[in-house]
Amino acid sequence: MKRVALLGATGSIGRQAVEIVARSPELELCALMSGSGPLDALAAAHGVEHVQVGGSAAGLLEASEPDIVLNAIVGFAGVEATLWALERGVILALANKESLVAAGELALAAHRRGGGLLLPVDSEHSAIFQCLEGREPETVAELVLTASGGPFRGRSRAELEHVTVADALDHPTWAMGRKITVDSATLANKGLELIEAHWLFGIPYERLAVVVHPTSIVHSLVRFRDGALLAHLGQPDMRVPISFALTYPDRAAVPVAPLDLAAGLDLRFEAPDDDAFPLLRLARAAGERGGTFPCAYNAANEVAVAAFLEGRIGFLEIAETVAAALEQVDGAPARDLDDLVAADAAARRAAERRLVPA
Ligand SMILES: NC(=O)c1ccc[n+]([C@@H]2O[C@H](COP(=O)([O-])OP(=O)(O)OC[C@H]3O[C@@H](n4cnc5c(N)ncnc54)[C@H](OP(=O)(O)O)[C@@H]3O)[C@@H](O)[C@H]2O)c1
Repeated sequence: MKRVALLGATGSIGRQAVEIVARSPELELCALMSGSGPLDALAAAHGVEHVQVGGSAAGLLEASEPDIVLNAIVGFAGVEATLWALERGVILALANKESLVAAGELALAAHRRGGGLLLPVDSEHSAIFQCLEGREPETVAELVLTASGGPFRGRSRAELEHVTVADALDHPTWAMGRKITVDSATLANKGLELIEAHWLFGIPYERLAVVVHPTSIVHSLVRFRDGALLAHLGQPDMRVPISFALTYPDRAAVPVAPLDLAAGLDLRFEAPDDDAFPLLRLARAAGERGGTFPCAYNAANEVAVAAFLEGRIGFLEIAETVAAALEQVDGAPARDLDDLVAADAAARRAAERRLVPA
């Protein structure tokens, strides 16, 4: 029996994870955490003793002694739990991409010391993890992340000027939390995933590519140096990568409809539009600069997305806010978590200044 600490239990990933754990005789929930949502009913239904709403994850994790931490918190708030699990060699099933983007080198160092498994829950990275099968980075010519393109695929920059929050939340293929749904509309999500892939798989940015694939059937691809291109195909259903991470190296059954190959699959691919969606290019630049620039990118994006969702800024101003914040921070590397928290806070202040009209 593996004990699962589920952080972000009330969210989109969290709710699907509850379903996966309930279906598996080899998994049990040992801890639940949310940011603000009540957990009493869920805890009672699954007999979970360790429950926490808000605050620090460390005490909950220490007390509940999990075998697996499923980090499905949204945003930088997930950093503490990611570092906790990596440092102790506890299996980390990581949905909270923001923590790996922000903590980068610190997370990798903790992972090296802890020596545990780091299993991606993001569907693209789960796909790449499976295509790679543990092969060395030098065998890889290119990792190709697929992007649905979000609700605004095909629109020009001018056409994005007046899109609304409701438009941005209307994702064509995935049902997800509000923040990641907006990130998918701006392509910041793919930018975060680019940086996440760099840290997870040790591949330099010049060998990381993004391609738009509107039907989200191909979840990502690996191009090897011998010319072979391996892809992972499936329904866009997050229960599949959640289950893969929680039951690895087994593959538990998941009740998803099989892809009907004979009906014909729509496997179109197209290049992303950097002009309409500059947050992808900005993420790559932040990743290449290194230090705490990725942390700043993430922090400024969180501030800008929250402001957009509150109706304080328009859609195009999300990218403008992030670009302006990145201009103002020094990007100095973080030696420890305190440095990282300070870099995150500095970027948030820079983004907030940009939001307040002069
Ligand atoms: N949804 C997807 O399909 C998907 C796919 C790939 C990756 N991801 C990643 O998975 C993560 C979660 O996404 P989601 O779509 O599930 O988001 P969501 O639906 O917004 O859920 C976020 C969860 O995080 C909790 N939370 C927020 N702040 C917290 C804090 N300070 N401490 C503890 N818990 C906190 C929320 O609790 P309350 O709301 O109860 O306060 C909620 O349970 C994100 O990093 C996202 O990028 C999601």
